[in-house]
Amino acid sequence: MGKKTIIVTGGAGFIGSNFVNAWVGKALGKVINLDKLTYAGNMENLAGISQHPDHVFVHADIADRTAVKALLDTHQPFAVVNFAAESHVDRSIHAPDAFIQTNVVGTFNLLEEVRAYWQALPVDAQSQFRFLHVSTDEVYGSLSASDPAFKESNTYQPNSPYSASKAASDHLVRAYHHTYGLPTLTTNCSNNYGPYHFPEKLIPLVIHNALSGKPLPIYGNGSNIRDWLYVEDHCSAIREVLARGIPGETYNIGGWNEKTNLEVVHTLCDILDQERPKAQGSYRDQMTFVKDRPGHDARYAIDATKIEQELGWKPEETFETGIRKTVRWYLEHAEWVARVTSGEYQHWLSKNYHERGEELA
Ligand code: NAD
Ligand code: DAU
Repeated sequence: MGKKTIIVTGGAGFIGSNFVNAWVGKALGKVINLDKLTYAGNMENLAGISQHPDHVFVHADIADRTAVKALLDTHQPFAVVNFAAESHVDRSIHAPDAFIQTNVVGTFNLLEEVRAYWQALPVDAQSQFRFLHVSTDEVYGSLSASDPAFKESNTYQPNSPYSASKAASDHLVRAYHHTYGLPTLTTNCSNNYGPYHFPEKLIPLVIHNALSGKPLPIYGNGSNIRDWLYVEDHCSAIREVLARGIPGETYNIGGWNEKTNLEVVHTLCDILDQERPKAQGSYRDQMTFVKDRPGHDARYAIDATKIEQELGWKPEETFETGIRKTVRWYLEHAEWVARVTSGEYQHWLSKNYHERGEELA
């Protein structure tokens, strides 16, 4: 891929910031990073490139059509990669409105402006342009233990307000390709983990609580299964799809790493026991079973055959190497954790865990 300008939305969040940092680090061209800076967006995630001439940060909402149009007209990108979203399932259960507004209305508004921009491009630039929509495996619903992993051909059966809003956005993207010919690409990835993961999600929450001497809350009996992928591998897959994916296609992304939540928490405790041993006992002693998530999906698993065979993509990290790197990152970035766990985060903890019988705030 040559050095050209790309617009990335949601580039101050967990995956978006990893993507933008890697893009600038690889000197792939200029990134216009549009982010609303919700509770999940953090300029500190971009501190290493804040002065870099290839990184331009724009504080805006994807639903703000005037702002989006101005950016497209000014910067003439060859691609738009849409990470911007409300992303936490538990928050979507407490307050779904923001999920509809950003994930559905926001994606629609973004698509409308991108369509207008793309339709006005010269024909050769039109065929090179890409709109890449970053989505999730949760749109496919929940698997039983014996079901095969999700393929791109699975039907959509979203079960939470979050996954329903992502499914709606995926359908809009599909329709813009089918109806208008917009060169879209959609990626459906499994659970990510790694640096800059906001500690409302299982892995960073468990690391943070373990080190703070707090309970490690496990929903239900901990037998739910997720398929884990190191965030930098997700970013490399997105770069691959952007470079060589076929417009109109969708690509599942995953690393064949199915684990029960109990296995994940045990692994985290065991690594912490090695890297930062407690005076007495194991971090496992802090594990606490709490009230389950309503509608909790039993199992996600990604069949990544298509992206592996058609685009030759493979993850670099195994779960074992990626999770140790992640724990070390959190141990080395205590100040980042301290800053993101003050303020609004404490309100969220009381709201989500008080009703589960735990006081984590
Ligand atoms: P995140 O919550 O960490 O970050 C979301 C970012 O989007 C934040 O910087 C936030 O400020 C920004 N944002 C929110 N609403 C916005 C709006 N209206 N306009 C502009 N910016 C806005 O999320 P994440 O975990 O980094 O996920 C990024 C994308 O990847 C999402 O679309 C999510 O659905 C998808 N995804 C996430 C995972 C995962 O495991 N985290 C897995 C598969 C797919
Ligand atoms: O599958 C991809 C999805 O993965 C993304 O689309 C979402 O944006 C992302 O948030 C993630 O969703 P999950 O709901 O799977 O992730 P979370 O980290 O919230 O939870 C992982 C599992 O751990 C899930 O089964 C619920 C459980 N859990 C979670 C929390 C926060 C607990 O047992 N205790 C907790 O405190």
